[in-house]
Amino acid sequence: MATKTLNVGMIGYGFMGRAHSNAYKQVGQFFPGDYRVVLKAICARDEAKAKAFAEQWGYESFETDWRKLIARPDIDVIDICTPNNLHKEIAIAAAKAGKMILCEKPLAMNTPEGVEMTEAVEKAGVANMVWYNYRRIPAVTLAKRLIEEGRLGRVFHYRAKFLQDWTIKADLPQGGQGLWRLDVAAAGSGVSGDLLAHCIDTAVWLNGAMSSVCCMTETFVKERMHTLTGKVEAVGIDDACIFMGKFANGSLANFESTRYARGHKAQYTFEINGEDMSISWDLHDLHRLSIYDYKDESKLRGWRSIHVTDNSPDHPYMANWWVPGLAIGYDSSFTHQVADFLMGLETGKPQGPTFRDALETQQILDCILASAKTRQWVDVPKT
Ligand SMILES: NC(=O)c1ccc[n+]([C@@H]2O[C@H](COP(=O)([O-])OP(=O)(O)OC[C@H]3O[C@@H](n4cnc5c(N)ncnc54)[C@H](O)[C@@H]3O)[C@@H](O)[C@H]2O)c1
Repeated sequence: MATKTLNVGMIGYGFMGRAHSNAYKQVGQFFPGDYRVVLKAICARDEAKAKAFAEQWGYESFETDWRKLIARPDIDVIDICTPNNLHKEIAIAAAKAGKMILCEKPLAMNTPEGVEMTEAVEKAGVANMVWYNYRRIPAVTLAKRLIEEGRLGRVFHYRAKFLQDWTIKADLPQGGQGLWRLDVAAAGSGVSGDLLAHCIDTAVWLNGAMSSVCCMTETFVKERMHTLTGKVEAVGIDDACIFMGKFANGSLANFESTRYARGHKAQYTFEINGEDMSISWDLHDLHRLSIYDYKDESKLRGWRSIHVTDNSPDHPYMANWWVPGLAIGYDSSFTHQVADFLMGLETGKPQGPTFRDALETQQILDCILASAKTRQWVDVPKT
């Protein structure tokens, strides 16, 4: 029975605003605990749209200026669901006001911003988390458990891909609602910060720190009309980003991301090859984890696909959902993230990824872009 409340003030009501709101509504039903999440206020610049969103999703109130939201004494946690260029200013103001913060990824536009944000939350002593939600897809969390149990043995390779195809059209504009991802001033970078950031967060979580990287980027469409200025402007983001690298454990990294892979919508995949076991996962089939266990009897050895839907504690998070065999989806990873955040508050043990964890990903992102620019290998600074 919940005895405490957590009042959420969310900024931005786009894709992530909806995904997070859905998670806040689900968490108390599927992961009941000490805290009851209250949808206190939504903040967006357009009053009519903010009001409509509040009514649709059950927020008690709305604001049109995020500074006013942060100043409200009835808000406990600020949830940042805005484009990347606003993360820093909002997070630092929220930390100074003593609010807990849930911030969308990538943490920041670049490492110096991320450092400021991390120092601000740590100085303020406020609970903080970054929405690298793929960690909490049950099959991915199961991969983490297998690794922690030492089943892979020495790891040789980690390869990841995140492929999309929605920006191939050369007459697609950049900037503004929905297209801010193509505008370097709002996004900071292209597919690296948008897509590879997820792959890097998962990789560092599963396989440990990266020590060096060597990267190549490409911007296939060099100029696009800017929605906000009405002028044709240079495109400053990376449309595709491919890098190799080395992890501190000696394994080799091979990463690729693009929005020009015709036919692929959101194909995030990773594969890890260890001496004793290989593991692979595909977002398009997200409840399955494929493994090859070299310790199996030779006559039975082969890739097997585990349907990670058992409701025993062996399959992470699934005991709180349906009966074995019934899948949950992308949206549930956000519910799991909120459930773990609340568990962190209850136990006093902060759950990652914290701002500091996300700073490590930010640093790798900066290193790959520096490598692409200089055409040199870059060592990742130790955190
Ligand atoms: N975790 C994930 O899997 C995931 C997926 C998509 C996006 N994201 C991240 O979430 C963030 C938002 O992305 P999105 O896809 O939801 O974008 P979106 O364009 O769908 O929504 C952005 C929202 O921010 C609002 N906004 C912009 N400026 C504002 C301001 N000054 N005050 C208040 N609201 C403002 C916009 O009106 C819009 O509602 C980005 O940082 C992105 O990288 C994460």
